[in-house]
Amino acid sequence: MQTIEIMEKTFDSESNDIALYLAMSKKADEEGQLEIAAYLFDIAMDEASHAVQFASLLGKVKDTKTNLVNMLAGEMQAEKDKAHAAKVAFSEGNDDAFKFFEKSLKDETKHKEGIKKILSKLQEKD
Ligand SMILES: [Fe+2]
Ligand SMILES: [Fe+2]
Repeated sequence: MQTIEIMEKTFDSESNDIALYLAMSKKADEEGQLEIAAYLFDIAMDEASHAVQFASLLGKVKDTKTNLVNMLAGEMQAEKDKAHAAKVAFSEGNDDAFKFFEKSLKDETKHKEGIKKILSKLQEKD
């Protein structure tokens, strides 16, 4: 396998691990296992720094304006995907998934609006 392909897979698995370790840290915290929770949180931050490095090595990070334009497209897609996912979850009677897709849909909309605002301020300066 080519190095770039391996780095793409590594980036994806490091990114997944961040969320998993954070979720597990939260669980340990809820169980009162504070030392374990703190350790799992530290691992999540290590995985985040690995993912950050691979994102840079893979050329996923450009200048800030380009980054924002790219992520705006991503947030708009995420908004559409969450709206669709909420409908599917509702039709299948998965209430927990439906509620969380609805909540995260609102977050994606906020992200979209926030990035749009920053971009229009940047454009005023041009
Ligand atoms: Fe890692
Ligand atoms: Fe988002």
